[in-house]
Amino acid sequence: MDKATTDLTCAGADSPQCDNPAMLVEKNVPLQAFNTFHIVAKAHALVRIASAADLHELLADPAWSGTPKFVLGGGSNIVLTGDVKALVLKVELMGRRLVQETAKAFIVEASAGENWHEFVAWTLAQGYPGLENLALIPGTVGASPVQNLGAYGVELQDRFDALDAVDLHTGQQFTLNAAQCGFGYRDSVFKHGRAADSASAGAGTHQGVGLQHRTLILRVRFALPKAWKPVLGYADLDKKMIEQRCTRPSAQQIFDWVCEIRRAKLPDPELIGNAGSFFKNPTVSREQCADIIARDPKLVHYPLPDGSVKLAAGWLIDACGWRGKSVGQAGVYEKQALVLVNRGDATGGEVMTLAKAIQTSVYERFGIMLEPEPVVV
Ligand code: EPU
Repeated sequence: MDKATTDLTCAGADSPQCDNPAMLVEKNVPLQAFNTFHIVAKAHALVRIASAADLHELLADPAWSGTPKFVLGGGSNIVLTGDVKALVLKVELMGRRLVQETAKAFIVEASAGENWHEFVAWTLAQGYPGLENLALIPGTVGASPVQNLGAYGVELQDRFDALDAVDLHTGQQFTLNAAQCGFGYRDSVFKHGRAADSASAGAGTHQGVGLQHRTLILRVRFALPKAWKPVLGYADLDKKMIEQRCTRPSAQQIFDWVCEIRRAKLPDPELIGNAGSFFKNPTVSREQCADIIARDPKLVHYPLPDGSVKLAAGWLIDACGWRGKSVGQAGVYEKQALVLVNRGDATGGEVMTLAKAIQTSVYERFGIMLEPEPVVV
């Protein structure tokens, strides 16, 4: 952060003395280091939330009660298309611990600001396997349920126990179990608004109780099964097993393989700005899939239990010739067409122009409208 150009104001600044000097609202804060796309933008105002008390104090402050708020975790799933006018709540809640051991599981808790990958590595080091397939995913623990993050055959919902959160409108703290989180593929109750605007998402599961823009997740608990079994069957992992002649890999082995697989095909956001997969893998009917295969026999597709078929969006984009292409400084990653990258000083506008051009060409060729995964701010 460029401290020299950042003004500091105490929350509750109308009072001559600030009760909690740690509660500072920083003005005009550069966000480039706080989003993994490394897009240049500023927050008009930003406050760091390092404890639940910080948050409650801020929400009780009349000076900020009417101001819209934007919760920022690791910034790994956002595209900033301009400066952020809402008050940015930068989640810096830290801590991880074993909270309970049941007959079946270790219940492990991490605060929302913990780095996801470091948390996964820590659980393995403690002897609580179960998250190894989710290694090396960028971002924070607090963002993990929002996306219902997933990779290599495991989704967060498979290991989720509960989370504690605060309603930013009322200041009330509450706990949600898995059913209440409305998890779906890269989806949850935290990605949908209230009844009126959640209708467009077609997500009947949310039953009008969408929590988008009104929740700050404080901590997440995971149930890591004592009767651990490796989750295999994913092509890239099967390849590793054959290569290494290993039929019963340990959790640590899978963790290492997942790290190797991801490093080989996904860009490290430290080196090349990106937000992981930019589009969701679309689901189509069996008939639509058969129709596409008749024209494009190599289509990568995965039949789902309900009779529909999931398609590899990366393949669709690749087939349209986008791999390696650019719009301005925004590009399509050479090794994985589903990942858009910042080749230098891309703007959010350039990223979105590229994303729209990809959507148009995939739609024109396959009749499928790809849905972006990151939140466009
Ligand atoms: N493919 C191509 N060309 C490409 C990219 C992919 O032909 O440029 C083909 C591959 O050959 C493969 C298929 O598409 O047959 C699927 O590719 P991959 O195994 O890389 O997985 P994905 O479906 O593209 C999803 C997740 C990733 C996750 C991997 C592994 C989504 C949106 N993405 O990618 O998640 O790591 O599976 O489980 O579901 C993320 O969300 O940020 C992310 C990286």
